[in-house]
Amino acid sequence: MTAFDQVYRESLEHPEQFWSRAANAVHWDKKWDKILDDADAPYYRWFTGGKLNSCYNALDIHVENGRGSQAALIYDSPVTDTVRTYSYLELRDQVAAFAGMLAGLGVEKGERVIVYMPMIPQAVIAMLACARLGAVHSVVFGGFAANELAVRIDDAQPKVIVSASCGIEPGRIVEYKPLLDEAIATAAHKPAACVILQREQARAALTEGRDYDMSAALAAAEPHDCVSVEATDPLYILYTSGTTGQPKGVVRDNGGHVVALKWSMKNIYDVDPGDVYWAASDVGWVVGHSYIVYAPLFNGNTTVLYEGKPVGTPDPGAFWRVISQHKVKCLFTAPTAFRAIKKEDPAGTLIGDYDLSGLETLYLAGERCDPDTLKWAQDKLRVPVIDHWWQTETGWAICANCKGIELLPIKQGSPTKPVPGWDLRVLDETQSEVKSGDIGALVVKLPLPPGTFPTLWNARQRHHDAYLADYPGYYKTADAGFIDDDGYVFVMSRTDDIINVAGHRLSTGAMEEVLAAHPDIAECAVTGVADALKGQIPLGFVVLNSGCDRDHQTIVAEAVKMVRDQIGPVAAFKQALVVKRLPKTRSGKILRGTMQKIADCQDWKMPATIDDPAILDEITESLQSVGYAKGS
Ligand code: COA
Ligand code: AMP
Repeated sequence: MTAFDQVYRESLEHPEQFWSRAANAVHWDKKWDKILDDADAPYYRWFTGGKLNSCYNALDIHVENGRGSQAALIYDSPVTDTVRTYSYLELRDQVAAFAGMLAGLGVEKGERVIVYMPMIPQAVIAMLACARLGAVHSVVFGGFAANELAVRIDDAQPKVIVSASCGIEPGRIVEYKPLLDEAIATAAHKPAACVILQREQARAALTEGRDYDMSAALAAAEPHDCVSVEATDPLYILYTSGTTGQPKGVVRDNGGHVVALKWSMKNIYDVDPGDVYWAASDVGWVVGHSYIVYAPLFNGNTTVLYEGKPVGTPDPGAFWRVISQHKVKCLFTAPTAFRAIKKEDPAGTLIGDYDLSGLETLYLAGERCDPDTLKWAQDKLRVPVIDHWWQTETGWAICANCKGIELLPIKQGSPTKPVPGWDLRVLDETQSEVKSGDIGALVVKLPLPPGTFPTLWNARQRHHDAYLADYPGYYKTADAGFIDDDGYVFVMSRTDDIINVAGHRLSTGAMEEVLAAHPDIAECAVTGVADALKGQIPLGFVVLNSGCDRDHQTIVAEAVKMVRDQIGPVAAFKQALVVKRLPKTRSGKILRGTMQKIADCQDWKMPATIDDPAILDEITESLQSVGYAKGS
């Protein structure tokens, strides 16, 4: 048995022994009564009765243990030409002051705070300040539109919203404040206060009586100490795309989260305290929560916060510059970032301009990693390139090559094996396990390990229906795939309407809801089609109301604008085709999967239940007219 197999086996056979050992590496104000609590199964809880504070485990503990002067966070912002390092001591003090400011505005344990911020240190500080108070943060990605923010305000009901006057995208300043004002005007719930960081690139007008200037408010704040919370108390809510326009509020608890994330830093990413770790993502996504903010700090690493892009800020050598300048040992990003770099510098010539000798490993996640990208990264960087698979819901990797335990041989197209703690199975529709090599639903036998999600915010029934109902006793990942004879997992596709656009998770159903509201659109469908840079992009099909004689291009432009205005630029919805009819089954179900396969020139079978096969010919012709389905 390999070293990895031994650890994996222990994690499943003796989970309490396994996770209590990991938990002993964490600071507890009071130790747990129960490691794994099954009193409410299938809603399992970890470390019930235990008390701790996540911010204490991220910052104070390191200051107390002599790491005060070590860099905790390096803010590297090519878009503002800034590099600024915060030591653990400085970060702790700034977070304590921020927590004091929030407390002064009435934020108490359990209350929600929405953070709507670009990639700046104040976003991290705000998150940790909430953790310090035992308040629950909910970070909303900056690329979402006001309407998406409004939906989250109504669901989370924040006491305070923390934001900035603007974000900086290459070539344009994104003014956040008008979006925030519009969201608050739309939402039924109104926050008691907004705290706004004024950035010099675009200052915002503040609303008297509601908005506070962050610098002034911080100057007047008294530092606040850590508030001890239950291990099972919520640390944050992170909204992610569901199958409707109503996003799912994934809840993360405190205790299991610290334990699992800290464990993951050595065992999965193979980094030690003091090493520089860079997750090139955004704090608005789960990768940012887990691996820009919490895990590296729990582990005493230096984390890099990068406000820039892989290309264009200023060139495709940007990542190599950051790695060499800050001595990054481990980089984590999405394959799309590497596709963007490869597209602009296919020979990787800019790599030669930098000293990358400190880089030991590249981790990729967020979308399926295509073999070309994996191979390019391996060839150019000459370090192990590790694809790993996880989801907002899981908070950390389900499958990975756990380099800190044992680096297993890499198979292209596979995120390797289930990580210790994850009992992954492949089931068919009858809930039976399939044989190796056969595709089925990827599910995880309950209980999930610590650090995942106990529930959805305000939606216990939805949590049950979405994740637990279809395969009793298992967590449904909504990904399909297979496990080969060597135990390697292959994740092939989603089983729902979720698509991954540049590593960003989006619901095509939510886009359809927006399109359907256009007055000239009778019916619509959105599918994800293959894109060389972003992996997938959404493509709309719209049927117009009979008698509509308006110009098709105008209607499409309006529809594209509606999606951008209501979901946000991040949806990257840029194209829709006006078609006469949509292909459907006899029971009226739109054949989205078949349309996607035709567009991508994949093999497809005429569905036996199709209502009118001729419609697929019309769809193929439309797709061909805009460059898709060329091989069909
Ligand atoms: N605030 C406001 N707008 C934002 C934004 C933010 N935080 N992030 C993205 N946007 C906008 C972009 O400006 C773009 O707008 P446009 O349509 O006007 O051009 C749109 O949302 C789409 O953004 P994106 O998907 O990032 O595409 P891009 O073409 O700007 O860049 C990549 C493509 C590959 C360079 C980029 O997606 C990238 O760096 N990806 C890295 C992967 C990643 O971070 N994944 C997260 C999970 S690990
Ligand atoms: P998110 O919740 O945004 O992290 O998106 C999760 C989804 O992204 C998963 O359910 C998968 O469909 C996809 N995904 C993430 N990582 C991988 C990977 N390494 N390989 C294949 N798909 C992935």
